[in-house]
Amino acid sequence: LTKPPPDARAPSGSALIGQGVGAIDTPALVVDLDAMERNLARMVAFARAQGVRLRPHAKMHKSAALARLQMQAGAVGVCVQKTSEAEVLAMGGVDNIFISNEVIAPHKLQRVAKLAAALHSRGGRLAIAVDSLAGVQSLAQAMGMGQELIDVFVELDVGHGRCGVTTPEATVALAREIARHPQLRFAGLQAYHGRAQHLRSVQERREAFALVLARVQAACAALQAAGLPAVLVTGAGTGTFALEAASGVYGELQAGSFLFMDADYARNEADPAQPSFEHALFVKTQVMSVCATHAVCDAGHKSHAIDSGLPLVLGAALEYGNGGDEHGLLRATRPDARLPALGDVLWLIPGHCDPTVNLHDVLIGVRGGLEHGVVEQLIRVDARGALT
Ligand SMILES: Cc1ncc(COP(=O)(O)O)c(C=O)c1O
Repeated sequence: LTKPPPDARAPSGSALIGQGVGAIDTPALVVDLDAMERNLARMVAFARAQGVRLRPHAKMHKSAALARLQMQAGAVGVCVQKTSEAEVLAMGGVDNIFISNEVIAPHKLQRVAKLAAALHSRGGRLAIAVDSLAGVQSLAQAMGMGQELIDVFVELDVGHGRCGVTTPEATVALAREIARHPQLRFAGLQAYHGRAQHLRSVQERREAFALVLARVQAACAALQAAGLPAVLVTGAGTGTFALEAASGVYGELQAGSFLFMDADYARNEADPAQPSFEHALFVKTQVMSVCATHAVCDAGHKSHAIDSGLPLVLGAALEYGNGGDEHGLLRATRPDARLPALGDVLWLIPGHCDPTVNLHDVLIGVRGGLEHGVVEQLIRVDARGALT
């Protein structure tokens, strides 16, 4: 693993740098750098004030440059979901990575072992989640004998109904198995409830989190009784992180989407205990056809993901309708609102940032706002399509 020289990874189109936003061809994925940096600063300040570590989920942006930026701002490292994401970010100079997910295939575990050794040799660290005895044993086999090169978290199912063990007994059994292998370090618990993030009211999220916390506390108590205390409990997303932070049990927050703030998260009732975040990710699009009833823009669902709903149109009384792969249908939301004219530029706020980013090679970073700003940076989506 070596850091490629910055120019080798520079995306094409670098002639855009220094030009006004008007020069950005459409459709394009644009990051408002000022808003993004404010979001990051607010999250870092929040974690610091709460005395918890921040390890943002990098599956959201898949960019080594943004992961490094988050670490420079105070994050202890980043999470990823896939081995290949970890490899790509490590190649881009990110040294502290947690694969917050299970890896089972022996050939993939070989890659995990190689990556753990590579990060260790440059003073970094790799961590991984497990939820089965077979998973621990295969990991231990891949890691070979020797020193503790990898941190291993037992994943709890805290109500999401996805991966994770469901009982304190199973948690202890896995912790014991990890502790039996000198090449593994039992690092604590991974406890993340994805669906709870998107419950709309603060009250619903609090209720869901109360159940999460009860499961985490039961697991911690069982581990303590077994003489294998959880060093760290890690989890949380953009919807609930204030609850994890205040729990006194979680020591690390994994929220990712706060950096870009998508339209789906904006539908959550704001929790006064959380800092507020601004939309920082936009699809720039242009109107290419107009008729009496609607206008058509050049961004369809090949430009933005629609799994969490259609995009919002920034600052306009327009509703975006799905026109297919390459088309968006724009209709006025009020009888007195006018349709955009041919050639007009609009800014869409994607429904879900993670899969939207994965549709693009590059994020175009703009400084100074979307109206009069200038392209400052092209941020490569290094781990685009890194799914293995
Ligand atoms: C394990 C895990 N942690 C953290 C997150 C971050 O959540 P969000 O991007 O909603 O803040 C996710 C997102 O799906 C996740 O799967």
